[in-house]
Amino acid sequence: MELAMINDDVFPILKIDPAYLDRGIYFGDGVYEVLRSYDGQIFALDEHLERFDRSLREIWIDNIDIKEVRRKVLETYQKSGFGNARMYFHITRGSEPRNHLPGKNLNPNFFLTVNELLDKPGEKEHGIKVCTYPDLRWKRCDIKSLNLLPNVMAKMVAEKKGCYEAILVNDAGEITEGSGSAFFAVDAKQKALITRPLGSDILPSITRSVVVKIAKNCGLGIIEKNLTPAQAAQCEELIMAVTTKDIVPIVQFDGQTIGTGTCGKHTRALIEEFAKLARHR
Ligand SMILES: Cc1ncc(COP(=O)(O)O)c(C=O)c1O
Repeated sequence: MELAMINDDVFPILKIDPAYLDRGIYFGDGVYEVLRSYDGQIFALDEHLERFDRSLREIWIDNIDIKEVRRKVLETYQKSGFGNARMYFHITRGSEPRNHLPGKNLNPNFFLTVNELLDKPGEKEHGIKVCTYPDLRWKRCDIKSLNLLPNVMAKMVAEKKGCYEAILVNDAGEITEGSGSAFFAVDAKQKALITRPLGSDILPSITRSVVVKIAKNCGLGIIEKNLTPAQAAQCEELIMAVTTKDIVPIVQFDGQTIGTGTCGKHTRALIEEFAKLARHR
């Protein structure tokens, strides 16, 4: 008889919840999104759905109706009743007994959670500490795939060092991005934001794209170039950008204080500009 053991109990394989046979668990064979709402309004839903659609197509899950995904997101969000919420959803290729090569007629699995999102008071003023860590990820980081082990390990090392985020550094010695966030540096002399050009080595962050758009309202140009950790540590301000927190100042980088050690004036201007967009649209 074909059997499965779940913790201490043995079952016939055919009787277990198909969630245990999800290819997402076996292979990370799926893609995901994280969105947030501000005051009852989901932020940048179209942009997130567009990126999700692209991620699906890039891993050849091509039978998903994105309009249905939108309906599911909106329906669950409305049912939650949260004004400020964090929503996570993923689609995996489906459930079946483990085999690298997927079966032909699999039904993709959809999973979504919504939680209340409470912003950490003072975080935007006091900022966060970060440390660098090797970028151990695969060569398609532009796909928001469920394979996040290198990101998880980086984050665990950061926590051990008393940091909130790990800034990943590739084999060429350049910063790619945060383990779960985009990264910007402010060059105050050139009045510009420096960020890595988009490519297969970073996620096309939605928050990054919003920051790039609002920068000119804050008197900042955009310079797309790669930075080493030493170059970043010399910059006047550093920024972490991610959907769940939008813009947060980085005040310590590998133990070195950045700027005055609190939120810099350019970062503050960006935070205010972002809030206008997120809270009043
Ligand atoms: C590796 C990585 N880079 C960047 C980001 C920021 O992306 P977004 O602004 O779309 O949340 C995330 C967010 O989860 C991430 O995991």
